[in-house]
Amino acid sequence: MEQVETKEIWPLRHGVKGRLHIPGDKSISHRSVMFSALGSTPVHITNFLHAADCLSTVACMRALGATVEELGATELVVTGNGLHGLREPACVLDAGNSGTTLRLLLGLLAPQPFLATFTGDASLSRRPMGRVVKPLSAMGAKIVGRAQNTLLPLTVLAPDGKLHGMRYESPVASAQVKSALLLAGMFADGATTVVEPVTSRDHTERMLEAFGVVTEKDGTAVTIRPVAEVQAPAAIEVPGDISSAAYWLVLASLVPGSQMVLENVGVNETRTGILDVLAAMGADIVRTNERVSGGEAAADLVVTAAKLHGTTFGKDIMPRLIDEIPVIAVAALFAEGDTVITGAGELRVKETDRLQAIADTFSALAPGSVEAGADSLVIHGGTQLQRAAVPSYDDHRMAMSLAILGAAGAGVIIERPDCVRISYPEFYDTLAGFGGE
Ligand code: S3P
Repeated sequence: MEQVETKEIWPLRHGVKGRLHIPGDKSISHRSVMFSALGSTPVHITNFLHAADCLSTVACMRALGATVEELGATELVVTGNGLHGLREPACVLDAGNSGTTLRLLLGLLAPQPFLATFTGDASLSRRPMGRVVKPLSAMGAKIVGRAQNTLLPLTVLAPDGKLHGMRYESPVASAQVKSALLLAGMFADGATTVVEPVTSRDHTERMLEAFGVVTEKDGTAVTIRPVAEVQAPAAIEVPGDISSAAYWLVLASLVPGSQMVLENVGVNETRTGILDVLAAMGADIVRTNERVSGGEAAADLVVTAAKLHGTTFGKDIMPRLIDEIPVIAVAALFAEGDTVITGAGELRVKETDRLQAIADTFSALAPGSVEAGADSLVIHGGTQLQRAAVPSYDDHRMAMSLAILGAAGAGVIIERPDCVRISYPEFYDTLAGFGGE
């Protein structure tokens, strides 16, 4: 029988204290390398997230002709060959586990006069790509692949001439879909507008502005016009990832006697839904040292343990906290009363089906604590906890959320724990430093 690797997390016996540097934002790190590859002058990127997903983007951009020098693990210099300087890759582009790498690059490569083929890991190969292939094809892109061009492997062929700008009403609020279309739209023959049901994270729009590319916002619609060239900035400083800070926000809130300062966390308002929900649950989180860097807001977050109570939230806030639902569910498990989460169907198409994963692992660790619907979760706070072995589903955010659940509760054994390398390689070491391992 295959030996499954496991990680044991022990309950913390005391509060977590101290200051913590939060690794760079994953979304912004991807974009910093992709967009720098479209300029013609070197871009010095600091606090880059040195984790598997962003390294997939680095490998793809190198294969497309960009020069990426690594000055250190989190410090890169990326130099492109100009807006029309991407080259036909001589190998298959491997997006690994990264939906952002794949979906944004499908948009960037759709208008290029060459062929590129993408692959990825088992998880990415199950995830829906029709949501970008369909609108890109309507613009004139030629993308072919498995399952009527909706699943990896996918090949992007040179289009016949320029792509056509269009207005696209996206059925999903997705920054990956929006970004793919905006990137393709830079090379199109007219304006491209993406309308979303709810505004998703706007890192693409903000970083494009730093490259001299204007996007126009009107409600939930964003428009881009054809671009002749980009002016790369000399430097990009990536703020800390609020999605990584989220684990410590919840852990410090839950474990009595805790107080932590999470340094330099990105607090772009399209990402801060977790702060709103934790505040509604009674958490004590204060922003200090607020500043703006590279068009992105950042702050230090001071979190102090507090008694949490259940809350209700739904589709309108979902894009602002989509990646934090697993750890918010952990907070809800320790809160007083029920938490009701609706409009969360997108969780079913993340690195794993996270609604199912939360339901199954919570049922093992706190029997009777959770009810999952087609796009909803009800979590009964205060349910009796027990230590158990649970799978990570090879999903980094499930593994880290389960580790927080175990550290704040009765312990946990996580099967296949290594997936944290996707977004937060030092996660377990940091937790061990608090005595949770
Ligand atoms: C991301 C957008 C989100 C998010 C993902 C990163 C991005 O996905 O879940 O982790 O960098 O644009 P969707 O845009 O598909 O919701």
